[in-house]
Formats: sequence, C-alpha cells, structure tokens
Amino acid sequence: MLSTDSSKRISFDRLICDEDLVIVYERHDRIKAVKVQKGSVFQNRFGVFKHSDWIGKPFGSKVLSNKGGFVFVLAPTPELWTLVLSHRTQILYLADISFVISYLEVVPGCVVLESGTGSGSLTTSLARAVAPSGHVHTFDFHEQRAALAREDFERNGMSSLITVTVRDIQGEGFPEEFCGAADSVFLDLPQPWLALPSVRRMLKQDGVLCSFSPCIEQVQRSCDVLQSGFTDIRTFEVLLRSYEVREERMMRTEGDQDGDLAGPFSRKRKQRIPHDANNGSGETTTTTTVMARPCREARGHTGYLTFARLACS
Ligand SMILES: C[S@@+](CC[C@H](N)C(=O)[O-])C[C@H]1O[C@@H](n2cnc3c(N)ncnc32)[C@H](O)[C@@H]1O
Repeated sequence: MLSTDSSKRISFDRLICDEDLVIVYERHDRIKAVKVQKGSVFQNRFGVFKHSDWIGKPFGSKVLSNKGGFVFVLAPTPELWTLVLSHRTQILYLADISFVISYLEVVPGCVVLESGTGSGSLTTSLARAVAPSGHVHTFDFHEQRAALAREDFERNGMSSLITVTVRDIQGEGFPEEFCGAADSVFLDLPQPWLALPSVRRMLKQDGVLCSFSPCIEQVQRSCDVLQSGFTDIRTFEVLLRSYEVREERMMRTEGDQDGDLAGPFSRKRKQRIPHDANNGSGETTTTTTVMARPCREARGHTGYLTFARLACS
C-alpha cells in the first residue's frame, strides 16, 4: 500500500521493487492486485507480461507484453484496493466511504472503532485516514472473515494501523478498555440499535457515530435509540452518477447540420478528406469527438448513513 509513514509521503516517487504490491490496470472494470515477483509473469488477453520488466519503473508506468499489448502498473491506494479486494460480504464503495470519512471527521491520530469488518473495504480507507499515529480497531463475530481480513491487511501493508478482533458487538458491545477512547465509531451491522448503548460509552466527548443500513426500517429503529444520549442526528443517502468518457468518430458530408453532438460535453477534432476521395458528392469531414454519457450500469441505492454526535453530559 502507498506509504502511510509521513516521512515518506511522496512514495509515488519510489520505483517498483521486487515483492511490491501493484495494481495492474487494463481498464476501469479490469483491475487486479498483483505481488511483484522477479521470476513471475502476469497474463491476460493482450499477452504475457514479465514482472522483471516492471522492477525499477515508476508507479503508473505503461508496460508492454510479449505481443505489444499494454497495461498500467499503479501504486496501490485504498481507493484502488476497494475495487480489487475479494468480496466475502457486501462492501462499502467509494462514494459512501468518502462521505463517511469526512462526516466522521477522521484525521491522522484518530482512534476509530468499527464493526463489522466484513471484507475490509472501509477499514483500509479508515486506516489511511488515521495514519501515521492513529489506529482502527475493527470487530467481526465471524472468525474466518476476521482471519481473512487480517491476511488482507498484511498483504496491502495496512496491518500496523489495524487490529482485527473476533467479537459479537451486538451481543457484547465494544470492549470496556475503549471506554471514552474513540474519536469515532462506525457500524455496518444488521441490528445496529443493539450496539448503541455501548457506542455511547466508547465515544470521547463530542465523538461521532455513523451507522450504515441498507433498509429504512433499520434507520428508524436506530434513530429511536439515538434520541437518548446523542444529538445532531442526520441520515443521508449518497447517490453517485458516473459518466463514461470515450472518443467516437463521425463522418459528415458538407451541408450536414453540425448540431449538438455530445450532451454534457464534447470536444471535436476535424480531419478533412479530399473531394476526389468522396465520389464527388461533396466534402466529407471525419469528426473525432470526446463524449461523456451517463453509465448504463450506474450503481443506485447502497444504504443509508446515519450520523449522530455524542451529547455533552
Ligand atoms: C456487510 S459486512 C461489512 C462490510 C464492510 N463495511 C466493508 O466495507 O467491507 C457486515 C459484517 O458484519 C458482521 N457482523 C454481523 N453481525 C455482527 C455482530 N453481531 N458482531 C460483529 N460482527 C457482526 C458480519 O460477519 C459481516 O462480516
């Protein structure tokens, strides 16, 4: 993972080394995490890529296969990790993650409690946000999931910032050792209202809670319980609209209307084709247009984010 040590902040400047984790980027929906190993190869439909060709190159380099195909080898970041991790559960995606981190006021040095860990998508971003001196304590009652999450944090280099513990947070609450120690708490649990009395004890004065729930009935039950001991209770649904940006070619004959081509934005480059190459029927122009269109498979509802601040006693 990108260095979380503040003294090595510009780690994008570092060159790729043997044993590094890199993100192999073919296109936005074909991305893979790969550990660089001198004698290994990466293979896709564009050919065979030797890892040894990547060593010594800057992160972000375009690298070639034996057949002249290419991919980009990117530095691993929490944003890319969320796109490549193995889904053992539903996960939080970037629109919700970024909103959670800013509304929870997570900054370097914070202590954050989280349950459940799930696939560790949010945990990885929380860890980067609290680095280098903060810590994320994450709890899941599913032993195997907790173990796999630990392995993932070793692999992506975040393990020093994260402690994964097996615990039933709805049944037992957070451990008493964190009483009054948490700057923020995040819940992604089926019955979050059961954990709220414990959250109230864990938060520092002025600390903030966020609970993610897919169903509005869960939000209503949680908000009922939050009435006691919390203030500034607000629920949000983050809806993201993605656009696909691509270049398209269009042929136009003289006299055609050069109307509005591309909706939200377009940039045109024209190339003229000589009259005699056009059956004499008028001058034809090939227009290359960069178009942006809303993606067809846009992700809709993910869940509701309920935030509340511990009331001053
Ligand atoms: C949807 S997943 C969390 C996904 C996570 N937010 C992410 O971004 O990858 C919910 C997790 O909560 C865990 N869980 C459910 N009930 C729990 C409980 N009572 N105590 C602790 N963990 C629990 C489940 O095992 C599951 O791994």
